[in-house]
Amino acid sequence: MAGNWKMYKTPAETTAFFEKFLPLVASAAHCEMVICASFTNLAAAVAATRGSRVQVGAQNCYWLKEGAYTGEVSAPMLKASGCSHVIIGHSERRQFFGETEETVLKRTRAALEAGLTPIVCVGEMLAEREAGQTEAVLTGQFQGGIAPLTADEFSRIVIAYEPVWAIGTGRTATPEIAADAHRVLRAQVEGKFGAEAARAVRILYGGSVKPDNIKGLMAQPEIDGGLVGGASLDPVSFASIVHF
Ligand code: PGA
Repeated sequence: MAGNWKMYKTPAETTAFFEKFLPLVASAAHCEMVICASFTNLAAAVAATRGSRVQVGAQNCYWLKEGAYTGEVSAPMLKASGCSHVIIGHSERRQFFGETEETVLKRTRAALEAGLTPIVCVGEMLAEREAGQTEAVLTGQFQGGIAPLTADEFSRIVIAYEPVWAIGTGRTATPEIAADAHRVLRAQVEGKFGAEAARAVRILYGGSVKPDNIKGLMAQPEIDGGLVGGASLDPVSFASIVHF
């Protein structure tokens, strides 16, 4: 279960979140937990989660290790700061910050090289779904951003399926719609990396995941976990998602 805090919280609010959240999930041994926070909150999150099972991730990274790239943060910097994960290619980055399949691939490789687990996001827009293009869009994103990885690289990534029309809208994909998209992605994985890789890869669903819909989503064998935005900001709500 991964939380995506987006551009929310200060370091003090981060510390306060974990003070409440950690006791609530102390008994949760059934899943991995990661909170993906803003760069400015990573130090507070790493300090607060030390000694717990909760891991810390970032929400983006640049693909070069270091250099004259004002404003960028590299994957080795994230690793050295205590991160284990990084979200790559979130739809908000695709929509507002010019992320393409090519840059998704570069960032994913940089994250892997630094020893981070990339959570690579794919998903169709509403107009694409309505035009019957969901499968084509997911296939294109997979082929461009993920398929060029080596089998070893692929075995170390997590995929997140996030239909753009379900993000922050309160409009969750039904478990069946989400599972259909996960099957499309798994078929792509099988075609490129084989049946074992398709079985092993973890595919998270994201888009208006809430305490009251997580159970139905997780009942789908295709869905391995959640990437949770709004509902991960509140410790009680994210803990209840963890304990679905
Ligand atoms: P949401 O965001 O849960 O607020 O819809 C999910 C995401 O963007 O990762």
